[in-house]
Amino acid sequence: MNYTLRTYKKEDNEALKSLMREVEWGEHYVDVHANTANDLSQDNEGEVVVAEANGNVIGFISFKHQKLNFMTFVPTLVVSTKFHNQGLGKALLKYAEEQSRKINYRGIYLDTPDTNLPARAFYKAIGFHEAYTMPHYYLDDLNGVTYIKLFNRDL
Ligand SMILES: CC(C)(COP(=O)(O)OP(=O)(O)OC[C@H]1O[C@@H](n2cnc3c(N)ncnc32)[C@H](O)[C@@H]1OP(=O)(O)O)[C@@H](O)C(=O)NCCC(=O)NCCS
Repeated sequence: MNYTLRTYKKEDNEALKSLMREVEWGEHYVDVHANTANDLSQDNEGEVVVAEANGNVIGFISFKHQKLNFMTFVPTLVVSTKFHNQGLGKALLKYAEEQSRKINYRGIYLDTPDTNLPARAFYKAIGFHEAYTMPHYYLDDLNGVTYIKLFNRDL
């Protein structure tokens, strides 16, 4: 698969929304994650990167280096369904990890709904540790699960 990674621009916001609708996220999440991308693109500790193929945005990741715990938090990772299972999600997370390592941060983490079994299998496949479940985190009837990867320590 041929694609390039580049920095997100505000003009990409609609393309990000289309991607999130394509993977069937509800409008509430589409709005929140699109706004988070805009915020992090202007944040000194944040970064948003898009993958582009033939002029189309086919995936993106947003992340923030958190001074609180010297960890990089990933609020959003999405790959177009047409490009699933071709290594792009892993490449986007690898990029975030490299950026985190460059500034000597301790690791990277994120959370996902416990019902998102494909994403949970993906995080496990690429070496993340399932850390804990947050009951009712997303909604009264939707738990969150946190996945973490520490760079200098096995869990
Ligand atoms: C989760 C997601 C980002 C994975 O991206 P992807 O590009 O399809 O994944 P990759 O091709 O990079 O897969 C990397 C590894 O994970 C494994 N993997 C990916 N999806 C998997 C699945 N559904 N079940 C089991 N393993 C899976 C791959 O086999 C691969 O393993 P390998 O490195 O041993 O070969 C993508 O499916 C997606 O965008 N889903 C919808 C949005 C979403 O759920 N985002 C995360 C929410 S927090």
